Amino acid sequence: MCGIVGYLGGKDATDVLVHGLSKLEYRGYDSAGIAVPEDGKITIVKTKGRLKNLAEKLETEPAHGHLGIGHTRWATHGEPSDVNSHPHCSNNDRISVVHNGIIENYMEIKSWLADKSYTFLSETDTEVIPNLVDHYFEGCLLEAVINATQRLKGSYALGVISLDDPDKIIAVRKDSPLIIGLGENESFIASDVPAILNYTREVVYLDDMEFAEITGSGIRYYNANMESVEKSSTTITWNADSAEKGGYDHFTIKEIHEQPKALRDTMTSRIVAGQKVKLDDITITREMLESYSRIYIVACGTAYNAGVVGKTAIESLSKIPVEVDVASEFRYRDPIIDSRTLLIVISQSGETADTLAVLRDSKKKGARVIAITNVVGSSVAREATDVFYTWAGPEIGVASTKAYLTMLIAVYTIALHFAELLGTMTDEETDAIKKEMLLLPDKVSKVIEQKESIQKFALKIHGEKDVFFIGRGLDYAVAIEAALKLKELTYIHADAYPGGELKHGPIALIEKNTSVLASLTQRSLLDKMHSNLKEVTSRGAKVMVVTYESNKTVDSFVDTAVHIPETIDLLAPVLAVVPMQLLSYYVCSFKGLDVDKPRNLAKSVTVE
Ligand code: F6R
Repeated sequence: MCGIVGYLGGKDATDVLVHGLSKLEYRGYDSAGIAVPEDGKITIVKTKGRLKNLAEKLETEPAHGHLGIGHTRWATHGEPSDVNSHPHCSNNDRISVVHNGIIENYMEIKSWLADKSYTFLSETDTEVIPNLVDHYFEGCLLEAVINATQRLKGSYALGVISLDDPDKIIAVRKDSPLIIGLGENESFIASDVPAILNYTREVVYLDDMEFAEITGSGIRYYNANMESVEKSSTTITWNADSAEKGGYDHFTIKEIHEQPKALRDTMTSRIVAGQKVKLDDITITREMLESYSRIYIVACGTAYNAGVVGKTAIESLSKIPVEVDVASEFRYRDPIIDSRTLLIVISQSGETADTLAVLRDSKKKGARVIAITNVVGSSVAREATDVFYTWAGPEIGVASTKAYLTMLIAVYTIALHFAELLGTMTDEETDAIKKEMLLLPDKVSKVIEQKESIQKFALKIHGEKDVFFIGRGLDYAVAIEAALKLKELTYIHADAYPGGELKHGPIALIEKNTSVLASLTQRSLLDKMHSNLKEVTSRGAKVMVVTYESNKTVDSFVDTAVHIPETIDLLAPVLAVVPMQLLSYYVCSFKGLDVDKPRNLAKSVTVE
């Protein structure tokens, strides 16, 4: 996720672009840059780090003009650095591009362009675009951009400028947001409304594969056949603050709604039906895998909870035993680590002190380390041997939601990769899982549609002091994450137990109106879980259950049943956890607590 802006009009473009980027920093903040044509050349000022670094750089390297494009980045391809920052230019410095999205086939285009003598400076997927536009350029920028986009696979919102078809911005989008702002004698492009609200409230929402040609005399819209398209504008009535949250009340609920996209992005180019898993940044071979005597997954908090799912995924697909541990425990328990150890660390931020300490210590002892992280260029990413970047985009809400779901995709993908390397599954078996994974984004959207019934249950339990979560197998992994979410967002004491453990103690706490939440997705364990539910309902517990659409058995004896779409049991946590996230969010809102910044918590725990 990145933010792009563009401006054409009577104001100083740099001021408008920097202001716009400041409103889009929530979309990415690891580097920023602008491109402004000036005296026959495109001046590009860009730098690693927050926007204030760009503002400082602009004081010594000013850029002035009436037209320009800008970008604030959340790295996916290539670490945050000056050279990887946007805007990117064609080799001849005549075309410049800002891009939000992921170009899936950039490697293929890069080598095609390299054969035509184009060279590349950055590690980004984006740099192919200005060169591709240059390749097709014959005097009309719109035509060149249309031709270039025919070659691109993936998602993109683009702002493109050229010195040879000057005083013009071409904008286009596919699966990434882009709006056009209509001012008086001035026009804007932006990834989101807040970037332009200071100047105008009239916007046009581009649809996929619609192109806007913005010139001083107005804006024309086209489809991919270069036929003219009529667009109407909308007047924005929200205020700037709520607009930054895309109309949602809080970042946390916005991020819950972003999960289908986060899943899609994380699978992009890695999971393709009928093809082997592709993991560019993991170079482990079959021989190496066979040489490992043990695999550890180590992490903290929600990332640890994803690791619990990872253990089952790797063991069941690739048949290698896996131990999963909390980083702050692992580092002090003198674990057996040597060159036959493979360590997988999971960390959204990539900066968690305990996780980083485990990584460093294990590497010193000879272990190979795979990092799963959401932050490109983070300490964990830099120091690990191999990296799997989750492409969830920046997570602003302190309680992790979309990052957790993408961590699950990461562990499934790695498990499939290991299975393919070791040959523990047939192609048909791995393909069946990949096809199901690709359906998950739409299924998560369906789960989110059920928010009303979850909200009603939240209202029933928001006054509680204690809530119990139960599940068996992977449903226990869902239960521990659900309990953590409820604790941190609502300050209600929540405990998670394996269903079978109830009668070994916790059932003593169940009485009339105790709240019990259960996840029931593991088909071989459904009957056993039904029995556990009977044990608590017969003692008067209020129960909410998350289970498959086909499991109507529970409807008759629980308070609320949230039915999720069918999937294979291994993947069910991706769907089952979503109602639990929503429940915590709604309880938190009913209690009037600070959803995005729960008390005593920090987004990145860089101290022990
Ligand atoms: C819970 C949460 C924390 C983090 C934990 C690890 O919602 O966000 O439990 O999961 O602090 O953080 P990372 O993943 O950045 O290492």
